[in-house]
Amino acid sequence: MNKFSLFIVAIVLFSCNSNNSVKSNKLDPKIENSITTILRKMSIEEKVGQTCQITLDAILLKDSRNTLVEPHQIDENKLNQAIIDYNVGSILNVSNHTFSLKKWNSIIKDIQAVALKTNHKIPVIYGVDAIHGATYIKNSTLFPQEIGLAATWNLSHAKKMAEITAYETRASGVPWNFSPVLDLGRKPIWSRFFETLGEDVYLAKTFGTAIVDGYQGNQMIDSNHVVACLKHYVGYSYPSSGRDRTPSLIPNRTMEEYYLPPFKDAVDAGALTVMVNSGEVNGIPGHANKYLLTEVLKEKWGFIGFAVSDWEDFINLHKVAQTDSTLKDAIATAINAGVDMSMVPNNPEYKNYCNLLVELVREGRVSQKRLNDAVRRIIRVKYYANLFENSHSSSDIEYPKFGSEEFKKAAYNAASESVTLLKNNNDILPLSKDKSILVLGPTANSLNCLNGAWTHTWQGIDQSYNNSYPTIKEALEKKFKNVSFFEGSKMLMVNGDEADLLSKDLSNAVRAAKSSDVAIICVGELPSTERPGDIYSLDLPIEQQFIVKEISKTGIPIILVLVEGRPKIIREIEPLSNAILQAYLPGDQGGKVIADILAGDVIPSGKLPYTYPRHNGVLMYYDHKQSEVINANTWKNDFYNPQWDFGYGLSYSSFSYSNLKLSTNTLFSNDKLTVSVDVENTGEFKAKEVVQLYIRDHYASISPSLKKLKRFLKIELEVNETRTIEFSIGKDDLQFYGIGNNWITEDGKFSVMISNQSQDFNFKN
Ligand code: BGC
Repeated sequence: MNKFSLFIVAIVLFSCNSNNSVKSNKLDPKIENSITTILRKMSIEEKVGQTCQITLDAILLKDSRNTLVEPHQIDENKLNQAIIDYNVGSILNVSNHTFSLKKWNSIIKDIQAVALKTNHKIPVIYGVDAIHGATYIKNSTLFPQEIGLAATWNLSHAKKMAEITAYETRASGVPWNFSPVLDLGRKPIWSRFFETLGEDVYLAKTFGTAIVDGYQGNQMIDSNHVVACLKHYVGYSYPSSGRDRTPSLIPNRTMEEYYLPPFKDAVDAGALTVMVNSGEVNGIPGHANKYLLTEVLKEKWGFIGFAVSDWEDFINLHKVAQTDSTLKDAIATAINAGVDMSMVPNNPEYKNYCNLLVELVREGRVSQKRLNDAVRRIIRVKYYANLFENSHSSSDIEYPKFGSEEFKKAAYNAASESVTLLKNNNDILPLSKDKSILVLGPTANSLNCLNGAWTHTWQGIDQSYNNSYPTIKEALEKKFKNVSFFEGSKMLMVNGDEADLLSKDLSNAVRAAKSSDVAIICVGELPSTERPGDIYSLDLPIEQQFIVKEISKTGIPIILVLVEGRPKIIREIEPLSNAILQAYLPGDQGGKVIADILAGDVIPSGKLPYTYPRHNGVLMYYDHKQSEVINANTWKNDFYNPQWDFGYGLSYSSFSYSNLKLSTNTLFSNDKLTVSVDVENTGEFKAKEVVQLYIRDHYASISPSLKKLKRFLKIELEVNETRTIEFSIGKDDLQFYGIGNNWITEDGKFSVMISNQSQDFNFKN
């Protein structure tokens, strides 16, 4: 391409850059024409390069022993080779480091400056895992992990988290975030349970779209927003063994009703990229599943963005799934299935990938049409991310709100609405500030435990990048006059499992208990994710349980604080605890939030986004069926007996529900049913409550769940205030995936249930 034609392409690209809505999922002819012009001029090698994603390490300087030079610096030769010789279209991540904003900006500028030297000046799209805030930037704002965010049951926190994360990520020059995780959390032992929005499809759908809205903004993705990436399409979160990246078995109906809808809604909301499931479903690896990637995602749903592989997953089709006997076959399988970009991501493997894909295209095993489609999608997203106009190569946009008090307050608010009060016998909480407090447990004095994995580093265990926020112990010391602290036990991971040790100071703690009014025992898990987070049992390690048992012998009341990404079994120590707080992984603000809740400065309002199991072996969900509740010992319908139910969470105040009314006894196909209910704050504190509406389908040709969440609303009520809440329900809320493999709504009896209120109605097609 000569300079003049390049200029024309640039003019066309830039001039159609207004008022375009990514939400419509409709293609803009002007953009498509511009892409066509570029595609016509690109060689096969240049196109293949666009589909290649490498990790930052692949272009960093290494010493003679092949280790990265500290502080990390770009190796210009490697950068030029990747971008100019191999036409690499995308770079990701950072290896076990958190960089300053300045460092990030210089990295991105260096990369984009080289991209501008290439034939077509196509900018690189840089992606990171900023999954609960801009996790790899120093002094960024860190929110609760997704499981905690879902526990707020407040969509405004989801949107705020995403907006702030987008702003801070974009401040570093990075325009693409590998978030949100929309895998359903229905396998609590899975190491990435905390990255999910919980077990319910409606909660995940509504939170997922709010997060996408926050990341991408309403229109074009401007310099305050990032491209979202829906992970991990689809069925990744339900491995039969519970271990990461192992096979899932998901029947078609369950796929349609549970696992696909959060992705479908987020695609409808305009999400521009998806990352593919690293595991396999029903024997078909995610990266080889043409039906899900091409027929469902792209053809049926009309997804206009691109699908990126997960880490090394083209290679893994050959090495791990063993569905392809050579790497070259694996690349053909994945690209032909519909994966558009390969997170190769290492050096020199990426060169091999590019060479093999060029060969495959020349041999006709990957068609030019498929390659063009993949590249068109990638360039389209670069266009929507506004990279052609602002690739950050010489950006001087200011981000004055980065790490601001305003942002910290938003993170604090989200964390404070996530923490869930599970037990509060005799209103022991809140505690008066003159109490003498014994704090102990392995999560009491750890900011890393409050944040979890994907914090500053992949596994989140490096302390060197921590911000200066208080741990639970430190926050309690600020709030209460008389605090003593003991560790009790140490958490360890040894040979791929939890192997905690009792600490020597436990006997001192028992002694100190005798002169304390109350013990606050903080238990939980070490940060971990993916394969390093695989464990053998959901049981809370016996050493942590032992702390509770020993302290309970002293007779002082116990407040148990759970700092955990997955619900650990606490059946034996629950009765020994007078109050229990589930903190999830609340982020940097967690210590302060927990202290404020314990002291009554914040009234808890979180609700469980999952069913908290009582036993390791019997895992049930709130939307179970009649057959699952029959108890063979009592022959009563009382077998569903989790530790706590989905949607459960107490307040320091209390609420009463009355007057549930339906606008009609019979709902017809095209009509709406208005449901209203009165909620009164009958307690002593102004407080927040989540009004949850469930529906029961009494008889259906596919055995129905006893209830399913269909609406929710978080409200705040003054003491004695009563508010009437209205919801609107339609035919779609009653549908299920029928015997004929299509969505249907059958005539018959349904119930609406809100808290202790219930009313029946009939549906008629
Ligand atoms: C994870 C993804 C992540 C990617 C890039 C993979 O190992 O499964 O969730 O986005 O790495 O860091």
